[in-house]
Amino acid sequence: MKDTSGKISGFSKLSAAEKRRTIAEHCLGNAEDSDQFEAFHFADEALQQKFEQFSENTLTNHALPFGVIPNVLVDDKLYHVPAVVEESSVVAAASKAASFWYDRGGFKTIAQESIKNGQVYFEWFDDVEWLRNNKSTFFDQLAESTAELTNNMEKRGGGIRSFLLEQMPGISKNTLKLTVEVNTADSMGANFINSLLETIATEIPVFAQKNNRKAPEVLMAILSNYTPKNFVTMQVAAPIEQMTWSKLYSPEIFAKRFVQAVNIANTDVSRAVTHNKGIMNGSDAVILATGNDFRAAEAAAHAFAARNGSYASLSEAVIENGYFSMKLTLPVALGTVGGLTKLHPTAALALNMLGNPGADELMKIVASAGLANNFAAVASLVTTGIQRGHMKLHLDNILSAEKASPTQIKAAKVWFTDKTVSVSAVREFLANSR
Ligand code: MEV
Repeated sequence: MKDTSGKISGFSKLSAAEKRRTIAEHCLGNAEDSDQFEAFHFADEALQQKFEQFSENTLTNHALPFGVIPNVLVDDKLYHVPAVVEESSVVAAASKAASFWYDRGGFKTIAQESIKNGQVYFEWFDDVEWLRNNKSTFFDQLAESTAELTNNMEKRGGGIRSFLLEQMPGISKNTLKLTVEVNTADSMGANFINSLLETIATEIPVFAQKNNRKAPEVLMAILSNYTPKNFVTMQVAAPIEQMTWSKLYSPEIFAKRFVQAVNIANTDVSRAVTHNKGIMNGSDAVILATGNDFRAAEAAAHAFAARNGSYASLSEAVIENGYFSMKLTLPVALGTVGGLTKLHPTAALALNMLGNPGADELMKIVASAGLANNFAAVASLVTTGIQRGHMKLHLDNILSAEKASPTQIKAAKVWFTDKTVSVSAVREFLANSR
């Protein structure tokens, strides 16, 4: 009997073509409309199939602009940084800031650590004090059980770095949290960490049995996306008289207004969230371009921003001894091997553009892009406001969507120099100029 509720049964078992037809029928009104999905397929069938396997229930490809932020100087090395983002102005803003800081020495690394972590949560029904007193034997046995997994990682410079056992009295006196800290070399390491933790999880009852302790109950084992020890701090600095960003203000006044705006982001959550969103505009664009996990980066960044109990800015700016400086600390777990990095052709191309960096180097580039966007956004906010630049690009997008001719585009740019850009205003302009 046909289900009239609209619920689709057995969808995952259908072939890709059947899925497109089914969804076209349910959502677009006609199975024949599946060609709307096919229209965005790659001509190369093998490439298309590769894409379909990245995720599940794939109907088509969803394209985003792949751009570049030229002239990002990081620790005296020049990169032209790939950036994938749908929002206009982001790449333009980062490019302007990158060029400005190129002329003033670029972005410098001032701190970096690469320790990721994960947890096994379990109930220890026996004496917790006994487990605490025997924790080094416990940790040794757990580490030994993972030897097969860690051997290869150790050859690449990674592996387990430490164990930490904590009670969770807020849950119950028997609930324990075992944290494992690891280095995953150049891989993002999610699969490695989760396999490691699941192996450790099965070893916990084995350890209890060997020592004639009551059987514990493992609840779950999973990596943590909170990576406060997997971070990089990037800085830009220049003598105050070189802060010649704006025609509206002297370098001194510009720098003072800038620092005040960052201080506000450090104390006011309304501003802090938007300020940090501006940072993630640049960072996520590079993370996406290089086939990395931007949800993990977002989760880590925002948790880190709230690490002192209230949500604050991820960046800081000061004026000291005649110098303006600004720094950004970004916790970000990235990989340059494994995952999509080699499978996804444009992610591989992006990494190639960067000279195939290791994960630590990519972290610096990602944080520099974040700092570039953050600098450009705050600089605009305390001078002209962001709408002027934004509207220029917005106008381009509307003109292109409205299929304006080259003559109309030229005329529209002159007309809208001192007028508010909106879809209706541009349509009206075009209608009158046709
Ligand atoms: C827009 O995508 C980002 C900004 O709002 C960031 C900021 O306000 O700092 C411009």
